[in-house]
Amino acid sequence: MSKILVTGGAGYIGSHTCVELIDAGHELLVIDNLSNSSIESLSRVEQITGKPVTFEQIDIRDARALNQLFDSHTFDAVIHFAGLKAVGESCELPLEYYHNNVSGTLNLCLTMKAHNCRNLVFSSSATVYGDPASLPIAENFPLSATNPYGRSKLIIEEMLGDLHRADSAWNILLLRYFNPAGAHPSGLIGEDPNGVPNNLLPYISQVAIGKLEQLRVFGGDYDTLDGTGVRDYIHVVDLAKGHLKALQKLQQQPGCKAYNLGVGNGYSVLQMVQAYANASGKKIPYQIVDRRPGDIASCYADASLAAQELGWSAELGLDEMVRDGWNWQQKNPDGFG
Ligand code: NAD
Ligand code: WQD
Repeated sequence: MSKILVTGGAGYIGSHTCVELIDAGHELLVIDNLSNSSIESLSRVEQITGKPVTFEQIDIRDARALNQLFDSHTFDAVIHFAGLKAVGESCELPLEYYHNNVSGTLNLCLTMKAHNCRNLVFSSSATVYGDPASLPIAENFPLSATNPYGRSKLIIEEMLGDLHRADSAWNILLLRYFNPAGAHPSGLIGEDPNGVPNNLLPYISQVAIGKLEQLRVFGGDYDTLDGTGVRDYIHVVDLAKGHLKALQKLQQQPGCKAYNLGVGNGYSVLQMVQAYANASGKKIPYQIVDRRPGDIASCYADASLAAQELGWSAELGLDEMVRDGWNWQQKNPDGFG
């Protein structure tokens, strides 16, 4: 057992990871500024696990609060989810994204360094591969960014690489998530987007439940099996379990290393629509419209490095993702309320 600080732990991926960490016997402290989440998610984590969750409402940009926290607790490692993640919004508010994601992470690392905590798991993203030259995408592919959100992840990855080069006592795992989907099978926690969802599966869910009229499929003329975009959707519970493996890996003092967390194959938008319609028994009306600027045709992981070096691979498939996503949507039509 070890004591883990989870930043952004009230959010979608963070809350699912808290469940797995608690079930595995870790002691947690969660911080979150609740800018994109509800404290209710952590009550649900308590319900699922039957264990209390220690929470403090802290913004990672608040150096004083972070220092006070580290003064009163000794953490073996930090799992760092806190960040803003909407690509479109990042184009409108680049400074806010760099401030939140880059300055926030810088602040966190300075505090960790000052308190001699040098084990970090960072939520990166497949977006750091930009428009890949070939598929599947391996960790050694060239990195690039096409929007401020992606660039914030890239800058952080580079900053963390520099940190390890300067002081090899740091152990840092950069987990590059592909497209997280689904929800906890209990239906108690899941994705609760603010306003109209940007991402495909929350959007489809809201069409299925009747909150949105129809899905706009962004582009029907890509060079893919049916012309619509292909992505590597990964069940959020599988993703959460990847963090347990990452914590184990940190004990081997790996230095700074990046791992893809994806399934290793992709589904098209229309395949996702069909799967969701089958799981929900609902019709998902859709219309094919223009491509969304910045989108790429296909994106899926070479997931073999995580399998070899973390002992992790996805166990759940598309059926479980849509089944659990629909279960969460039905039980919580207004999210956490
Ligand atoms: P989320 O918005 O549900 O969770 C992020 C949490 O961080 C939220 O609870 C939010 O309130 C909190 N937060 C944001 N800024 C903060 C700050 N300054 N101080 C403290 N807390 C703050 O998002 P998620 O989907 O759970 O994503 C978690 C992480 O994974 C993010 O870093 C995101 O960029 C990354 N990621 C997400 C996806 C995805 O598609 N969901 C894909 C790849 C990477
Ligand atoms: C998936 C597919 C769309 C909505 C984004 C970020 C990425 C990462 C994951 C954080 C694409 C199509 C979508 C809709 C549609 N996040 N689509 N109609 O763009 O692969 O990745 O989230 O790191 O950085 O860019 O995910 O869910 O938005 O789109 O047709 O209303 O669904 O064109 O092919 P994306 P997504």
